[in-house]
Amino acid sequence: MKTSLSHRRDEEASTATPPPSPPYSPKPSKPNRSFNYLLREQRLLFTIVGIIIGSTFFIIQPSLSRLSTSEPQPYIHSRSNAFGLRRNDGALHGVPRRVPVGIGSRRLRIVVTGGAGFVGSHLVDKLIGRGNDVIVIDNFFTGRKENLIHLFGNPRFELIRHDVVEPILLEVDQIYHLACPASPVHYKYNPTNVMGTLNMLGLAKRTGARFLLTSTSEVYGDPLEHPQKETYWGNVNPIGERSCYDEGKRTAETLTMDYHRGAGVEVRIARIFNTYGPRMCLDDGRVVSNFVAQAIRKQPLTVYGDGKQTRSFQYVSDLVNGLTALMDGEHIGPFNLGNPGEFTMLELAKIVKETIDSSATIAYKPNTADDPHMRKPDISKAKELLNWEPKIPLREGLPLMVNDFRNRILNEDEGKGLK
Ligand SMILES: NC(=O)c1ccc[n+]([C@@H]2O[C@H](COP(=O)([O-])OP(=O)(O)OC[C@H]3O[C@@H](n4cnc5c(N)ncnc54)[C@H](O)[C@@H]3O)[C@@H](O)[C@H]2O)c1
Repeated sequence: MKTSLSHRRDEEASTATPPPSPPYSPKPSKPNRSFNYLLREQRLLFTIVGIIIGSTFFIIQPSLSRLSTSEPQPYIHSRSNAFGLRRNDGALHGVPRRVPVGIGSRRLRIVVTGGAGFVGSHLVDKLIGRGNDVIVIDNFFTGRKENLIHLFGNPRFELIRHDVVEPILLEVDQIYHLACPASPVHYKYNPTNVMGTLNMLGLAKRTGARFLLTSTSEVYGDPLEHPQKETYWGNVNPIGERSCYDEGKRTAETLTMDYHRGAGVEVRIARIFNTYGPRMCLDDGRVVSNFVAQAIRKQPLTVYGDGKQTRSFQYVSDLVNGLTALMDGEHIGPFNLGNPGEFTMLELAKIVKETIDSSATIAYKPNTADDPHMRKPDISKAKELLNWEPKIPLREGLPLMVNDFRNRILNEDEGKGLK
């Protein structure tokens, strides 16, 4: 056994006389060493599995992200244009970008402004019947809660008291814009047309909703073309007593098209001709409701002028079918929605007498300013593109509103009740 002293001596001896060093040669490579390292403890297996997982993720991920961006928007595809405005894909190119209504799509949330009124309440009935969620916005200027009372408690129905001249924020898919007093007695006092339409178009732009404007045959004024086609630009007095309505609706049409062209809002325009049916406002100066109410009350039927001016009368369910066909379809319009059957006021008075009271008399009064001499829609465009035409002639439709009017006239609370 060597001591530490002898060990140190050995070391000193070796430094003192170094042995001759061998010539330099590189370390021999050992290829098997790293390969063996990989094989040991299943490292190779783990490496291969890792590569497979990584490449699978990078190959599949782009397709997954494409799927996930289209899934939450089965109904509306929106993007920003160069001006930062939200616009709907294909809105101007005829490319269908929505799942057509009713084809396996989710329930739509639909706003009906003026839904407590005559036409609006019938439209709401149809939309609820089709399984949609409906929000009515109405300030009850001419509408009545009674028109919707049968829907109170229905979870798909909501009613908001609101004046559309003020903005409102809601998330919706479609907007039927009807809010506007439609009779001369009322519309002189209400500047709804322009401001209301502007606000509802703003809502449509924000939410990407489809917007339908209920315009009117009054945009043709006292027409110089008969019957009136949608291409006719009208003959309207811009400063007359009726102008707030006629020109208001013309401006509403202009705004609607501007929002379509400028902001890509999907729009529809209906030009509605005289419509009648249950729930019409009593005593609002419209000729059918006037005659029916007067005949029931045993009063003379008021005819303005010589009674030879003509009008066309459509039953409300025909109009409602036209409005939904327009909203659901792919055409902007404008579309005339009316019944082409043409009657003079005296002919209408005769039919009302036959239907309600044959002993009713007629009282003549001077005509009102700017009263159109004739009105009859050309509906060939709606027939061709919407596959729509009215089904109910005047003689069949009139009796359908008489019971409703009779009940309301007998009801002393009419006009006071639930407002
Ligand atoms: N009935 C027709 O013969 C006829 C013809 C042409 C056009 N139109 C148009 O159809 C639409 C509906 O007409 P209608 O006959 O049902 O009239 P209506 O008066 O019975 O209904 C209008 C509804 O709008 C509501 N309204 C009015 N101003 C409002 C406001 N500022 N904010 C919120 N709600 C408001 C009223 O309270 C009412 O419920 C109107 O836009 C009208 O111009 C109707």
